[in-house]
Amino acid sequence: MNEILITEDNIKPYLKTKKFGHKIFAFGCVGSTNEFACNLAGQDYKEGTIVIAEEQIRGKGRKNRTWNSQFGKGLWFSIILKPDGKTNHAGLYSFLAGVSVAKAVEKLFGIKPVVKWPNDLLINEKKFCGILSEVNFADNQIHFIVLGIGINVFHRLKDFPEILQQSATSLSIVTTKRINRSKLLAEILYHFEKNYTNIKNNGFEPVISNWKKRCPYIGKRISVIQDNHVQNGMFEDLADDGSLLMRKNGQGLIKIVAGDLI
Ligand code: BTN
Repeated sequence: MNEILITEDNIKPYLKTKKFGHKIFAFGCVGSTNEFACNLAGQDYKEGTIVIAEEQIRGKGRKNRTWNSQFGKGLWFSIILKPDGKTNHAGLYSFLAGVSVAKAVEKLFGIKPVVKWPNDLLINEKKFCGILSEVNFADNQIHFIVLGIGINVFHRLKDFPEILQQSATSLSIVTTKRINRSKLLAEILYHFEKNYTNIKNNGFEPVISNWKKRCPYIGKRISVIQDNHVQNGMFEDLADDGSLLMRKNGQGLIKIVAGDLI
């Protein structure tokens, strides 16, 4: 084992937030923290409640992919949000999660991760963090959002399945600093809460411009895979709802709502 387990008691001393992380469900093993958090959110658990686990046996990634969530290796957690509002901005909360994780990693380890649309975080061009946002709504009104964040922390290269070894990394691969996952979680929640409060007062613009500053692909030629179809063009900008705006030769600007940037 690399360090002490993640428990509510171990996290609390590091918390600097007013609301986020004050109610924590910490498990040794769970199906998926997102699944568990969606259930809690439907049962009136408050905004800011966190579900975290040492291991997930049904860890979910985007597009129904499996998220590799081995025991003790990562920070696998979900945040319950209950924002007032319409669904047209619901997709932007994952950008908020992305910039908050990036800021926390920068503060604690002095490393500047880059963001990759829609919501991956990379160091040395390899992914160490993925974000899965699940939105529950009716009549265009958000009931709750569960933001699931998966961070590879203690993996050595051999811990990743062979197919991921070229494209994945972990914090302990990229830093020699000692890593305390409870402290990292508390730092992420601190930046998250700060940005979240700021959204209520100033809208999403500051988060989006922060995200764009961290994204080296804007203004560059990119390819996006959508199902089995590849779109090539220039990454011009983000649309108001977080979609990717691509400039294609001869076709003007197209909006890509979902896909994988390669
Ligand atoms: C992706 O990049 O595809 C998103 C990965 C999200 C993984 C996290 S781990 C905690 C939370 N619970 C899950 O089942 N998934 C998210």
